[in-house]
Amino acid sequence: MTAESSPSRPGAEHWVPGSASVEELRHAAEACRGCELWQDATQVVFSEGAQGARLMLVGEQPGDREDLSGEPFVGPAGRMLDTALDDAGIARETTYLTNAVKHFRFERRGPRRIHEKPGVAHVNACRPWLDAEVAAVHPAVVVALGATAARAVLGRPVTIGEVRGEPLDAPDWRGVSIVVTVHPSSLLRIRDDADRHAALRAFVADLRAAADLAGVR
Ligand code: URA
Ligand code: SF4
Repeated sequence: MTAESSPSRPGAEHWVPGSASVEELRHAAEACRGCELWQDATQVVFSEGAQGARLMLVGEQPGDREDLSGEPFVGPAGRMLDTALDDAGIARETTYLTNAVKHFRFERRGPRRIHEKPGVAHVNACRPWLDAEVAAVHPAVVVALGATAARAVLGRPVTIGEVRGEPLDAPDWRGVSIVVTVHPSSLLRIRDDADRHAALRAFVADLRAAADLAGVR
C-alpha cells in the first residue's frame, strides 16, 4: 500500500477548522484528504439538519445514492429510517443526521458500485469531523445506528444486542448521552415479514427512548 492510499494517513484533523459552525464544517469537509476514500467518491456527504438539534443520529457512511446526491440517508436505508422516525413520532427535520465516515467506500463490479464497510482506520481518520459536529450542534443525545457508528461514537467495539436502547455516557463528549441501536439497512435484509416488523418495532422503541431522553417528543 502506498502512503497515498493507506487509511493510516494523517486523519481529518488537519482539515477540521477550530470552533466552527456546521456550515463552516460542511464547507471545509469538501477539501478533506484525511484518508484515501475521497479519491473514488463523487463528493463528501456531510450532514443534514440544524445546529441546535437535540437529537443527533449517526449512520455508517453514505451509500451509492447519497454519494451521488450529496445528502445523507436519501436511499433505501434512508426510507427505512424515515418510516421508523415517523412511527416514533420524531420529525426528521428536528434531528441532525450524519455519518461516522463521510465518503462512500465501495467496490466496483462492472457498472455497479457495491457498498464496502469502512475499516476501523477510516472510522478513526474521520472521527475529528464527528467531534467538531458534536461541539457545534451540542446535542443532548447521540444515536449510533449500527456497529460502525457505535464504534465511532464510543471509541470501542460493542455488540449491539448487549448495549442497545440503554443510555450510555459518551467517553469524549461531556453531557452527551449515547443510545446505540441497529442500522436501518439491517431491517432491509430481513426477508420474513413478521421478523422484519418485529425488528422495526424494536428499532422504533430505541428511537423513542432516545427522543424522550433528549426531550424532543
Ligand atoms: N447508510 C448510512 O449509514 N448512511 C447514509 O447516509 C446512507 C445509508
Ligand atoms: Fe476525510 Fe472522512 Fe472523507 Fe476520509 S472519509 S477523506 S477522513 S471526510
